[in-house]
Amino acid sequence: MAKGSLINLVELEALVESKLADTSLAPAHFDYYRGGACDEITLKRNCQAYQELSIWPRMLVDISKRSMSLNLFGQQLDMPILIAPTAFQGLAHERGELASAAAATRLNTVMTLSTLSNYSIEEVADAATPVNDSKNGHHLWYQLYVYKDRAITKELVARAEASGYQALVVTVDSPMLGRRERDVHNHFTLPVGLRAANLENFALDKIDKSQEDSGLASYIASLYDTSLTWKDLAWIISLTNLPTLVKGVLRPDDALRAIECGVKGIIISNHGGRQIDTTISTIEALPSVVAAVENRVEVLLDGGIRRGTDVLKALALGAKAVMIGRPVLWGLALSGESGVETVLNLLKSEFDLAMGLCGCANLTEITSDLVSKNK
Ligand code: FNR
Ligand code: LAC
Repeated sequence: MAKGSLINLVELEALVESKLADTSLAPAHFDYYRGGACDEITLKRNCQAYQELSIWPRMLVDISKRSMSLNLFGQQLDMPILIAPTAFQGLAHERGELASAAAATRLNTVMTLSTLSNYSIEEVADAATPVNDSKNGHHLWYQLYVYKDRAITKELVARAEASGYQALVVTVDSPMLGRRERDVHNHFTLPVGLRAANLENFALDKIDKSQEDSGLASYIASLYDTSLTWKDLAWIISLTNLPTLVKGVLRPDDALRAIECGVKGIIISNHGGRQIDTTISTIEALPSVVAAVENRVEVLLDGGIRRGTDVLKALALGAKAVMIGRPVLWGLALSGESGVETVLNLLKSEFDLAMGLCGCANLTEITSDLVSKNK
């Protein structure tokens, strides 16, 4: 298969690696993006688990008019494929989060801004201002990491809400940073001058580079609140009128606790295999969480989505929408905003093809009987 051009998301990482010298991505930062925790078992399993699911396509259905549009928390989106929060997009491209937010806006989907972004909440909101679309609002959600100093959390939530972000995503799978051995080998730090834009008092490029570890792991160990529990989630929800989603849940009982706290959505995620290794893959975790949730809140999923058929399988098993992480970073590294648009469009058109070939004219026709687990 041709490796030189961008035709799917599966070959994308190898494509970026082969062109690394032409991008602004340093080899150590490429490793940071692509890597997972420890033996990277979960990282691989997230993708492989889709191959263990078979599709039972439905024939001779009129699919001449297809739509993949959906309503999420009152916002009308053109596709059930959203951008997951990923830190430090400035490593991939000088416009970083501005570029990915603009691409999501143009495709009428959502970009989730990480707490650890290189551009500020307000700068990204400016880059994602919807054109002729005032009813639909900004195509942005805000992802929250909770620092020991709760005043910071309050301020971040207030700024996101004031800037027009449509939902809050609280990531709960990272009270400590997973052990990413590529970053340990590389003594990962940010280049001088690259800032965590919303956290001006916590300069990441000042991390002690002499240490034997990943600089990011030390940064997070010093600032994140490891005492966080469900009651703190309820407190965060009380700070805002925005719908709050919890990201990083894999267990049905945790999903139920999150609902008790008042979340409006659950993102099934293992952080792209970057936190605890050898977890269940997200697509395997999905059915039991969906069964426990009983449609009370929206269930989304991320991790390992690379094909249109992956999106179809996730929706068939009960996800409302999916998110992608690394492929967006690769698109950014290759060609900024247009690279992210290409990545989103490729997955969108593969998903459209998968829907059509399964006899689905809209998302409600993607039912669980379309998918079974291989014996
Ligand atoms: C992440 N992820 C992440 N999640 C989060 O809640 N806040 C963050 O700041 C980050 N940062 C981050 C950086 C990088 C480089 C990666 C690869 C991932 C996790 C992310 O939101 C998502 O869960 C996974 O990336 C999904 O898996 P795929 O699509 O990358 O396989
Ligand atoms: C990561 C963090 C920052 O996965 O979420 O690198």
